[in-house]
Amino acid sequence: MINVALPKGRLGEKAYAMFCAAGYGSMDIGDIGRKLSFRDEKSGMNYFWVKPSDVAVYVERGAADMGIAGKDVLDEDGADVYELLDLGIGRCKMCVAARKDFTDDPSRPLKVASKFVHSAERYYASIGRRIAIIKLNGSVELAPILGLSDVIFDIVETGGTLKANGLRVIAEVSDISARFVVNKAAYKFKSAEIARITEKLNGVCEHDKTCCV
Ligand code: PRP
Repeated sequence: MINVALPKGRLGEKAYAMFCAAGYGSMDIGDIGRKLSFRDEKSGMNYFWVKPSDVAVYVERGAADMGIAGKDVLDEDGADVYELLDLGIGRCKMCVAARKDFTDDPSRPLKVASKFVHSAERYYASIGRRIAIIKLNGSVELAPILGLSDVIFDIVETGGTLKANGLRVIAEVSDISARFVVNKAAYKFKSAEIARITEKLNGVCEHDKTCCV
């Protein structure tokens, strides 16, 4: 059996559809109901739904042989896993955004609100800007509006949330998408199966879609 950690939600469902298209699943999502794990006897795959930010933990520690995780989460956690494929789904960009009237004052630390504090710190260290980081767990767009921060460091997909809240992108930091990740020991000991799955998944990746930011 191969254990696969899928991120709960739309991205995970899309990823599972890719496993099915690759020949590694046949069960209908609707039939799975609220079960957190299910098995595809024919292909020998055991799937389980986990919180998107936890996929890398399951894979890194070997509870899952492989999984699908967003590049944003992988970068933030510094997960010690092999990243074998960019699935081309869940595309968005890591951006810095601010109120339309924002002007930077380089004489003082920039107040940055984010869910991705390590990635934000790394980015600002790379451009040599002093910051004061404010860790939030969601709805980060509110922070500059309420004066909690100067900017936000967050993912932008359609740009709809920024627009609806009067914010604008002031810097694009990196491209984000869903990645196929594999546990390092499993990569060694289940190498033939993993190579087969990787090749099949690669055949169904959405390589040519572009991000709409
Ligand atoms: C994410 C992100 C933005 C939004 C961007 O939030 O943090 O708020 O999506 O998407 P858009 O560009 O298409 O509007 P999420 O939905 O994960 O909710 P959260 O506020 O709980 O983080």
